[in-house]
Amino acid sequence: MAMVCLSDFEAYAKKHLPKIAWDFFAAGADDCSTRDENILAYKRIRFRPRMLRDVSVMDIRTKLLGTEISFPVGIAPTGFHQLAWPDGEKSTARAAAAMNTCYIASTYSTCTLEEIAAAAPGGIRWFQLYIHRNRAVSQQLVQQAEALGFQGLVLTADLPYTGKRRDDIRSGFRLPPHMKLKNLEGAFEVCKMSPSFHSLLDPSVTWNDIYWLQSLTHLPIIVKGILTKEDAELAVRHGVQGIIVSNHGGRQLDGGPATIDALVEVVEAVQGKIEVYLDGGIRKGSDVLKALALGAKCVFIGRPALWGLAYKGEEGLQDVLRILQDEFRLSMALAG
Ligand code: FNR
Repeated sequence: MAMVCLSDFEAYAKKHLPKIAWDFFAAGADDCSTRDENILAYKRIRFRPRMLRDVSVMDIRTKLLGTEISFPVGIAPTGFHQLAWPDGEKSTARAAAAMNTCYIASTYSTCTLEEIAAAAPGGIRWFQLYIHRNRAVSQQLVQQAEALGFQGLVLTADLPYTGKRRDDIRSGFRLPPHMKLKNLEGAFEVCKMSPSFHSLLDPSVTWNDIYWLQSLTHLPIIVKGILTKEDAELAVRHGVQGIIVSNHGGRQLDGGPATIDALVEVVEAVQGKIEVYLDGGIRKGSDVLKALALGAKCVFIGRPALWGLAYKGEEGLQDVLRILQDEFRLSMALAG
């Protein structure tokens, strides 16, 4: 089957992944209205294309906090890549490096940070942190990421507790016994995903903890999960370097806005003082262009990266990125 667009990878993953893994990747919270709205909202936005503007030469590169990437699409942090492909996050790191874009590795990776760094030594990578009740564990992860050459620290702000994902509850989702949350091994005697696992996250985290993170690391800090101008202003005031407008792919609070709809007020509030990125619902190159037109510096893909891995590992993820890159370039040209 020719893989022409990201939906082709979605269909492949749905057909070939074990049902429990597919359901985990696809899940949204409650009745999935925010998850679905992330995608529907793009369809309501229309371009005002301009003509006769010489689009024979186009530059689609951009910079993330000063580091150049080949086009404005990176890989959002998602957990458990070995559910999609045996090499897991090592394949993700290699694909992102081959395409010269940024990979945000999750706290809940099934490979260690060392393995991820070694898989793609020259790659642009950030580390995504969930703050645990055991602060020493979080501190150690942050400092390890910095020592291993990760170039940014992404604090996920929208998961004090895990959203209610019905299919995961119905299926009793757990990591298979041969997979481990490698970055947390030893730190806790918990190597399985279970309801009690998430209760190890610290729900008392506040903006003040940004100062704590700043005291631990020189890495730039990017807050992920911002959806309002009020929180965008707080992010600026607390001295972070970037924001990812995100609703966790609709997996947390159901009923919140589509990220593309929340983007505008965040961009306005920030007034260019820090960089603003977005994730959620990016499925086509024209979605990327819409997000950039509304003020995002770059976007990140979550589920489509997992579909690419499920298709052919590193190669499949490169295919996904290449298709998005080609579609983005074409949309730019056709929009003038
Ligand atoms: C996620 N997301 C996520 N975010 C995060 O900060 N840390 C994580 O470990 C995870 N894990 C995770 C697993 C799976 C299976 C999904 C689908 C999502 C959220 C992710 O970073 C991102 O916000 C969304 O996936 C973006 O939406 P799309 O691109 O999936 O529509």
